[in-house]
Amino acid sequence: MVEINKIECMDCLEYLKKVPDNFVDLVVTDPPYNVSQKSNINYKNLNVVKNFGDWDFGFDPVPVLKELKRILKPTGQIYVFCATKQIPQYISIFEEEWFFRNMLVWNKVNPAPRMSKTNFVFANEYIVYAINEKGRPTDSVFNFSKHSEMKNIFITSALQGKERLKVDRKAVHPTQKPLSILKKLIEISSNPDDIVLDPFMGVGSTAVASLELGRRFIGCEFDKKYVKYANWRLKNGTK
Ligand SMILES: C[S@@+](CC[C@H](N)C(=O)[O-])C[C@H]1O[C@@H](n2cnc3c(N)ncnc32)[C@H](O)[C@@H]1O
Repeated sequence: MVEINKIECMDCLEYLKKVPDNFVDLVVTDPPYNVSQKSNINYKNLNVVKNFGDWDFGFDPVPVLKELKRILKPTGQIYVFCATKQIPQYISIFEEEWFFRNMLVWNKVNPAPRMSKTNFVFANEYIVYAINEKGRPTDSVFNFSKHSEMKNIFITSALQGKERLKVDRKAVHPTQKPLSILKKLIEISSNPDDIVLDPFMGVGSTAVASLELGRRFIGCEFDKKYVKYANWRLKNGTK
């Protein structure tokens, strides 16, 4: 069994084994993108982070998705943040074994610059959206608001300002996600008191978003430094 409203410091596959079948209402998660390069780039005194950490090399989503399918309720929904190259694999798994519903785009108005100027600037990240089992979509919670607010695109800046956790003016986590996007997904696909799971918590953004919306959360993160900052955030709030 796992503790509610606690981020456990452990490997996700070990953690997920402790979660009972059909326990979770919603999964919102941001697993490794496998986009890191060996070193960062320093160009005209501007440091561009290209290596997010050892965790961003060789991630295989297959065993994780298998466990998530088991512990998510049949009508439960999943949102997975991913990189361009991961889209085919996620869609093929969700088409074959889940109920693929949509591809959402997070468009950043201030993406990291492309120093080489030999390709387009990467300004988008993606969120694959699915329901656990094929059935009537109306059986799943879907709090549709106004049409103008339900487009499958989120346009925001990459995280900066007060929300970005920093120590000595350096970001604590290289890929901290905006609460505005996480809250929107949680608000649409769950109800108050529901259990939201994220097995790749980083500095706890999904946990913070869930609590701020009156949902409960469960989840883990294997880097104890990130768990420490996530707990700090949960205790001190984000406002
Ligand atoms: C893309 S980041 C998530 C960032 C998070 N959304 C946030 O806003 O802070 C992925 C996180 O998963 C963690 N991670 C990677 N592999 C893991 C594993 N096998 N078990 C647990 N955590 C893992 C990494 O340490 C990293 O913090």
